[in-house]
Amino acid sequence: MGCAVKKRIFGNWKMNGSLEANAALLQALKSGASQAACEVAVCAPAPYLSQLHSVLAGSAIAIGAQDVSAHASGAFTGEVSGAMLREFGVRYALVGHSERRQYHGESDDLVARKAQAALACGITPVVCVGETLAQREAGETDAVVRRQLAAVAHINGHCLSEIVLAYEPVWAIGTGKTATPAQAQAVHAVLRAQLLAATTSAARIPILYGGSMNAANAAELLAQPDIDGGLIGGASLKAADFLHIVACAG
Ligand code: PGA
Repeated sequence: MGCAVKKRIFGNWKMNGSLEANAALLQALKSGASQAACEVAVCAPAPYLSQLHSVLAGSAIAIGAQDVSAHASGAFTGEVSGAMLREFGVRYALVGHSERRQYHGESDDLVARKAQAALACGITPVVCVGETLAQREAGETDAVVRRQLAAVAHINGHCLSEIVLAYEPVWAIGTGKTATPAQAQAVHAVLRAQLLAATTSAARIPILYGGSMNAANAAELLAQPDIDGGLIGGASLKAADFLHIVACAG
């Protein structure tokens, strides 16, 4: 069974936004989510974290980053450390999003070290796992997600219960092709079993679903026993849609 704790609805803005557009979106989210029964976070591009820090201060919405360096400091041009993110009130950082794995060559090992770096700074890593369409069609889904999670568990075993996991089938991201509730639940159950074997606190590790979750399909996905929330891309850019999903998670 999934966590007994509150569901989580996290927005992933990806590389979208502007100071002006963010201001309007954040104001709408702030008022719309003030009574939310679930935990709400927004993962924004790094340059806007300062804006989120001031606009969301004292609100019910947590701040998330979309990536974090595996290193603490030094000659890593372009990277942003966990300690820097902490200065802007960041509570969560996505690690291993499929777009990072695909376009930036991030390996399972690097993703695991990024999760470790986040944890060391008191940031909760939202570890993303998921199979491509080719892997699903080859019957490799379970093996792929288990391998991706195993790498993270391997070096973060002692604090594995501090992570958030997100199952995001690559073929469902930004495509409008959502996994069916049964397809998503089946993979969440595989991940839950793996967590149960790895840590006694597995029941409280949230496993979010991501991949074309929207206002129309969120309720059915969130009703699955091992789906503890959603990681929302496209629909997180529209206040009404995102708030509808937040309401579904109440
Ligand atoms: P999507 O993205 O909701 O636009 O499919 C989800 C994600 O990539 O986190």
